[in-house]
Amino acid sequence: MRAVRDELRGAVAVTAKLNMTDGVRGGLGVEESLRVARWLEEDGGLDAIELTAGSSLLNPMYLFRGDAPVKEFAATFRQPARFVVGRLGKRLIREYPYQDGYLLEKARRFRDALRTPLVLLGGITDRASMDLAMAEGFAFVAMGRALLREPDLPNRIKADPATPSLCVHRNRCMPTIYGGTHCVFNDIIPAHPPLSVPAVTRSSGHNGLITRRQGGGMARTGTARGFTREELESARDVLLPDVIADDLAVLFCGINPGLYSAAAGHHFARPGNRFWPALHRSGFIPRPMIPAQDGELPALGLGFTNLAPRTTARAAELTAAELREGAEELHRKVRAHRPRWLAVLGVTAYRTAFGAPRAAVGPQEPSIGETRAWVLPSPSGLNAHFTLPALTEQFTRLRVAAGLPDRLTT
Ligand SMILES: Cc1cc2nc3c(=O)[nH]c(=O)nc-3n(C[C@H](O)[C@H](O)[C@H](O)COP(=O)(O)O)c2cc1C
Ligand code: SF4
Repeated sequence: MRAVRDELRGAVAVTAKLNMTDGVRGGLGVEESLRVARWLEEDGGLDAIELTAGSSLLNPMYLFRGDAPVKEFAATFRQPARFVVGRLGKRLIREYPYQDGYLLEKARRFRDALRTPLVLLGGITDRASMDLAMAEGFAFVAMGRALLREPDLPNRIKADPATPSLCVHRNRCMPTIYGGTHCVFNDIIPAHPPLSVPAVTRSSGHNGLITRRQGGGMARTGTARGFTREELESARDVLLPDVIADDLAVLFCGINPGLYSAAAGHHFARPGNRFWPALHRSGFIPRPMIPAQDGELPALGLGFTNLAPRTTARAAELTAAELREGAEELHRKVRAHRPRWLAVLGVTAYRTAFGAPRAAVGPQEPSIGETRAWVLPSPSGLNAHFTLPALTEQFTRLRVAAGLPDRLTT
């Protein structure tokens, strides 16, 4: 991987497609694959890991899901193999039901264990499945069949988020790999005429394509991580506005805007940040949401601000004086808007800003007027010590203390 990186000199992202399990008795299982993933992470040579599953030889439908195209497979053999495969195929090739995002459950285990940006694959077909992947904390999504059916689908979704995929997951494209991979329905039902908007897809080096995440405050032209270095650098001048209203139940307070969030124009927008998944899993919000929806939160009694307004690549770039000034400004803001709870996301920054060197995660004394303070762990991907389940537990404690209902169940 090092040799590949050195050769590419940052021109493109280096990713690996890793089996989470072969889906075959005696094959690679999730625990073993997690070990491999950790080695890859420790090695540090990858920009992202794309999570796949199945063995195309021994259990092909474990990856694809949906109908096994036995007749079409048989047709690729000569007699007598054609006859045998045609007769026994349904018994030899096990079928699994298709549903959007079908690898998500397994992929969550990798997400919880790794800091490397992850690519969710398997039944990503529309904006809803993309948004779910982002809200679950995956950095990217990859599409296979949906793109084979409609190569410009990401652009259509970009133009109209309600666009459905035309792929029917009958898998009749599978046997075409022997003579020119294509969607067989494109021979008889043409997909749409091409759009004139610029492409947003990026090849992952095989038949799957990776789409970059959507939304944000800046037109994106850049890297697989979302923005070019220049775009991120110019975001240092961006002031990310608060999302605030009077009398909120909880005002969340980050340390300061990171380059990615400032470039996107939304709070906690950096892929790999666990704020949004934790907010959902802890029942603060009724459905997965993406950073571009941060403006919807005051309607749920929630808001965002930051301790320090200055945008930096890392929170550690802030000085102690900036944090202390930020705390003074925060006091003013809290007194003006009177949230019931102020939740500061980052215990180290809280200790410095509020002059409370012994503060720990949880409720704090004293209050700011009527507003109680609470410290949550930083949801940044750099704070890997707190896994997503551990973060969710802390968010849930706050939700319960704030007397808010579990919106996942109500
Ligand atoms: C016809 C066809 C050919 C494929 N060829 C490859 C391949 O050469 N290498 C690979 O890693 N994946 C290959 N895939 C798998 C896709 O990249 C992807 O992992 C799979 O289709 C699941 O994603 P989907 O649900 O979006 O289709 C192929 C898929 C199809 C349908
Ligand atoms: S043949 Fe076309 S519609 Fe059918 S699964 Fe393949 S890409 Fe989708």
